[in-house]
Amino acid sequence: MSKKTYYITTPIYYPSGKLHIGHSYTTVAADAMARYKRLQGYDVMFLTGTDEHGQKIQRVAAENGMTPKQYVDHIVSGIKDLWGMMKITYDKFIRTTDEDHIATVQKIFKALYEKGDIYKSEYEGWYCTPCESFWTETQLVDGMCPDCGRSVEKTREESYFFRLSKYQDRLIKLMEDNPDFIQPASRRNEMLNNFLRPGLEDLCVSRTSFNWGIPVTFDEKHVVYVWIDALSNYISALGYLSDNDEAFRRYWPADVHLVGKEIVRFHTIIWPAMLMALDLPLPRQVFGHGWLVLEGGKMSKSKGNVVDPVILIEKYGLDAIRYFLLREVPFGADGVFSNEALISRINSDLANDLGNLVSRTVAMIKKYFDGLLPGQGEEGEFDADLKKELLALKPKAEELMDNLQFSLALADIWKAISRTNKYIDETMPWVLAKDESKEGRLAGVLYNLAESIRIVSILLQPFMPETPKKIWEQLSIDDEETSWELAGQWGVYKPTRPVSPGEIIFPRIDMEKELESLSSIIPDSGKDESGEKGHKKQEAQAEKGSASGDTSQISIEEFAKLDLRVAKVLSAERVEKSDKLLKLRLQVGAEEKQVVSGIAQYYSPEEIEGKTLILVANLKPARIRGIESQGMILAATDETEGRLTLVTVDKDISSGSKVS
Ligand code: ME8
Ligand code: MG
Repeated sequence: MSKKTYYITTPIYYPSGKLHIGHSYTTVAADAMARYKRLQGYDVMFLTGTDEHGQKIQRVAAENGMTPKQYVDHIVSGIKDLWGMMKITYDKFIRTTDEDHIATVQKIFKALYEKGDIYKSEYEGWYCTPCESFWTETQLVDGMCPDCGRSVEKTREESYFFRLSKYQDRLIKLMEDNPDFIQPASRRNEMLNNFLRPGLEDLCVSRTSFNWGIPVTFDEKHVVYVWIDALSNYISALGYLSDNDEAFRRYWPADVHLVGKEIVRFHTIIWPAMLMALDLPLPRQVFGHGWLVLEGGKMSKSKGNVVDPVILIEKYGLDAIRYFLLREVPFGADGVFSNEALISRINSDLANDLGNLVSRTVAMIKKYFDGLLPGQGEEGEFDADLKKELLALKPKAEELMDNLQFSLALADIWKAISRTNKYIDETMPWVLAKDESKEGRLAGVLYNLAESIRIVSILLQPFMPETPKKIWEQLSIDDEETSWELAGQWGVYKPTRPVSPGEIIFPRIDMEKELESLSSIIPDSGKDESGEKGHKKQEAQAEKGSASGDTSQISIEEFAKLDLRVAKVLSAERVEKSDKLLKLRLQVGAEEKQVVSGIAQYYSPEEIEGKTLILVANLKPARIRGIESQGMILAATDETEGRLTLVTVDKDISSGSKVS
């Protein structure tokens, strides 16, 4: 019998700038799902890719002095690097500039035209270039784009239209008959009530006003416009209408399309209608997840308010970031991304609950048995309860994962971790260790701890590509003991090799120090709209004091972006409940500025008052401990001596003077 298949997709991303942590969110979720299904034994097809056509890409490319293809090639390679860094195990990466995709889209367009489902007419409406969206008069909000609030341009042009209205009744029936087709359920009601029942308009599917797109074969001045191009990726990637459509026959229909909530409409109305028109089976489910937003609003690359996944991963490690993304917010709901929430998750869940459990267990086996347990030891009080809870975990986690409830699945895994930590308190191995006659029981307790950790670590694999292996190494758990199935069994671990205490798997982070260092990076990280990942990477390396020999040079223009000013310290005071931070009032020419700086361990307020310093005056304001900081003062740190000294001026000079 051939294996059951599982086909999961992410949206294809616009390579119009660097990706932010919000994009990683969908992809990490899809990757967790793909890994989970593979572990269960499915034949998985996990598709991701890039959506490379359209006016906006054409414009951005021109702004960067490149052809559209050069530009997308460049950005796409950065996107692939990011997915590599995040250990995203996609099976195929589709680009809408791939020849196969182009050929398939052209065939689809022609087939729909020949069928009468695409016809020629004229389009009049409003166009928002940054969002690449057409809006009808009634959809505008105060005459502006309802999505981004910016101004829209009136357009009128000859266009082909897809007869979407024809499929209205079938779409309503689809959603009524299949309550699971759209998840979460609230999004289904939104589609039915706001779009389907009020009536569908036919959809504009070609453009003549720009040419960076797939040409319509039978009318060359038209290029295929957005959705027929983009949505077709899910079947063109499988070879639909190509010489080799084996994968299509094997994997279609998709088990789930993972998409952000703002594109649910396209995936649950336009896409099924297209498939109906092509007489193809429909995907089983479209899951519309929420947005990850920053405290001030949407984390959108067009708003210059981005959090860079590369920096975060370099700072905290991949597994911590993946854990946070999937744990913090119920999948489906919106969530706020903050550095504080991230660090507190790392400290409490990873360093404390999981990390300590592992390191204590390994350390006790080392200490009491010289690293090698003499088998499963004696049973005793609390064992039955521990086993019961750990054995119940796999089926519970699986049910939640099958519903894409990552955060709840992780919450259950963490309940089991807490239960195991409690077992240490209950059995008190250090007391057993004092009594030689209890050696058998002590072995039993430590065995049960190792066994619980084994079970938990197997179930963590979909979320964390790195940590389970580290745990297995430390506990000397063999590969044969870690198959997915064996997370549902007790007594599997055979201590045949000594445990080997290793590195702390999740080091604790000093919250205060960290927030301070992050605030100097994060608010700035979205500034460079067309910037690439490579640039940020250098910044992150510089941040870490990397001695890789990589001379990350900048141009004089880049340097000129820094507004460095001479500033006089008017007053200084300690920030409450912080032993690192000083709040400074600075005179900068006619202006007064307030800056929070992490120098309290090196300078007292009295010492610093009256000094003349150098201020980075155009740094985006940041809130540090709730206090606004309007820039950053320059200081030099001696890494080896652990000393810091402020940068000051050689001769007296008036405040506000420009430093260059
Ligand atoms: O929409 N939080 O591409 P895209 C969560 N090319 N998800 C976010 C997010 C955030 N802050 N920001 C973006 C497109 N996303 C089309 C798709 S599919 C046939 C074509 C998600 O690069 C967003 O919701 O603008 C979407 O699902 C995905 O990133 C790609 O966004
Ligand atoms: Mg979008």
